[in-house]
Amino acid sequence: MSAVKTVSQTNVAGLSLIHRGKVRDVYQVNEKQLLLVATDRISAFDCVMPNPIPHKGAVLTALSAFWFDRLQHLTEHHLITAEFEKMPDIVRQTEYLRGRSMLVKKTRVFPVECVVRGYLEGSGWKDYQKTGEICGHRLPAGLRQCEKLPEPIFTPATKAQSGHDENINEIEFSKIVGAEVAAKLRLLSLEIYREASEYALTRGIIIADTKFEFGLAENGDILLIDEVLTPDSSRFWSIETYAPGKSQLSFDKQYVREYLETLDWNKQPPAPALPTEIIEATTLRYLEAHRILTEKNYNN
Ligand SMILES: Nc1ncnc2c1ncn2[C@@H]1O[C@H](COP(=O)(O)OP(=O)(O)O)[C@@H](O)[C@H]1O
Ligand SMILES: [Mg+2]
Repeated sequence: MSAVKTVSQTNVAGLSLIHRGKVRDVYQVNEKQLLLVATDRISAFDCVMPNPIPHKGAVLTALSAFWFDRLQHLTEHHLITAEFEKMPDIVRQTEYLRGRSMLVKKTRVFPVECVVRGYLEGSGWKDYQKTGEICGHRLPAGLRQCEKLPEPIFTPATKAQSGHDENINEIEFSKIVGAEVAAKLRLLSLEIYREASEYALTRGIIIADTKFEFGLAENGDILLIDEVLTPDSSRFWSIETYAPGKSQLSFDKQYVREYLETLDWNKQPPAPALPTEIIEATTLRYLEAHRILTEKNYNN
């Protein structure tokens, strides 16, 4: 693979950084607009790795833009443009932002994670094993790890400032956002998941679960925000390898996780360096996810 410039951290002259997440850097462009910049950072076991993954930020951005466009008829969203040429001058002055940035409408974020699960894994699987329920949804007995659920369920969580998000039931969810908004977010989340997962299945990818965020626009509209239906916000599995009763190969980070499991590392920062072959294999997985879902080759 040819050498490609990676971006681990951004610092944009003239824009103020308002948030640095594990993967994305968020800038205020003006009172009404934000710039969401996906870096090439990768996290595994909740820890950011020291090596960037070439193309990752651009691939995630292209994938989110693809979904916003495709889901347009179901929900309003925050994306103004992901095309670099259409961005304000102040953004275009920094060439490395090209391809990895989304100019979006600034919203008041509802402080909840709108999770939809079609399959039983992660914290859902843990809760089910303990209580037979997830977020107040009683499920049939005897389901296996990663098994398909009778129907997709809405399983919201708090958006913890630090530490881990906590699954909540619909009453707690309503208390946080109000009953009317709660009903809308629930319905939108389920509709978006249903449509996206049906489409992904025709491309050979199972979207086992995913997390959406919504925000309130200035005019009172509810917008789908953040990144959508990327491997970072969802569990993608290949239908070719899917088999319930055990954990599944994760589409994107499998090589990173498997490599880290071979080490004597306690999963606390600082994370160990990744070998070149692991980095290259991971880039290929991100490119593949993009190619399969969008039916386009990613070229940059
Ligand atoms: N349109 C938007 N308006 C306001 N905030 C947004 C919008 N879209 C995304 N955000 C926020 O930007 C932040 C992106 O940060 P992220 O990289 O996800 O880091 P983390 O989730 O680790 O805090 C999140 O806090 C998200 O809620
Ligand atoms: Mg986030």
